[in-house]
Order: sequence, then structure tokens, then C-alpha cells
Amino acid sequence: MAIIPIRTVPDPVLRQKARRIKTVDRTISRLIEDMWETLRTVNGIGLAAPQVGVPIRLIVISIPRKEQNNEEYAIINPEVLRRKGERIVKEGCLSIPGYIGEIKRSESVRVKGLDPAGKEIKLRAEELLAQALEHEIDHLNGVLYVDRLESQDKLHKAEPEIEPKPEMG
Ligand code: CO
Repeated sequence: MAIIPIRTVPDPVLRQKARRIKTVDRTISRLIEDMWETLRTVNGIGLAAPQVGVPIRLIVISIPRKEQNNEEYAIINPEVLRRKGERIVKEGCLSIPGYIGEIKRSESVRVKGLDPAGKEIKLRAEELLAQALEHEIDHLNGVLYVDRLESQDKLHKAEPEIEPKPEMG
């Protein structure tokens, strides 16, 4: 396994539309392993393949759960099937270090995709998992959370001492 440097703005790979994955082969499995290791190193919630410089449709998400193991998903070709509700969230991104913004995200989402074995999966998510899924799937379309700010005053410098860690990845 290897830790891969995370690309930050204005790296053009972050603005590319990522390609669908046709075959889940060894290259993909290895990339998933490397993305897990990278995510653990930076202590992030999620990571999309374009953030490690590979413009393909693959995301990993790790949601901390109290007194339990993290809830973890690696999803190939993820698609949002349905969004419900709206809520205001604070969000950061490992590719935009040092900033936090307030944006609207869905209350819940339904997502489908393939698991690392190439098997179809569907999941319904709320709260932080829904937010992370929307954030990471946005990355696959070249969209960053700052594109969703209603105005620039909704973006500010992160104060790590005060703020919790909303870095999606
Ligand atoms: Co991000």
C-alpha cells in the first residue's frame, strides 16, 4: 500500500469529469487500498479518486461511529438516485485546505454503485454519510463545495482550535 499526495486547488484534475470504471480489476483494488491508507493518514471522512490524481469514478468514505468501528464504504461508479430535504451544513475539503463553508446539502440520499467486488449495492443515507456521499460524488463531476456557496461571505478560514473537523475529503 502507498500514501498518495492529495491534489489541491487549482489542480485541473479536480475540475475534470471522471470516467466510469468498466472493469473492477487489480489496478482498481490496489487504488482502493491506497486511498484507504491515504484517508487514514490525513484522518479524513472521504476521498474521491480525482483527489489522488486519478480521474475515475471511485470514492471511499469512513464515518466515525461512537464506540464502534468506523462505517466504511468504497463505491465504484456511485450515482445519486434520489435526494430528499435540505439542510445547512458546514463543510471543508482536503483539496481546499484551511477553509470552511456553509452550504445546503440534502437531508437524505439514495445512492447506488458497485462494491470493491464489482457487486451492485444500494444505500440510503442521512446526516454525515449523506453529506459525504454528495461531497465525494460532486468531486467525480468536477464540482467542489465552494461552487455551492450562496455567497462568498459563507466561506471563512478554518480555526482548528475552535471548529470541529468537517473535512470531507
Ligand atoms: Co473534497
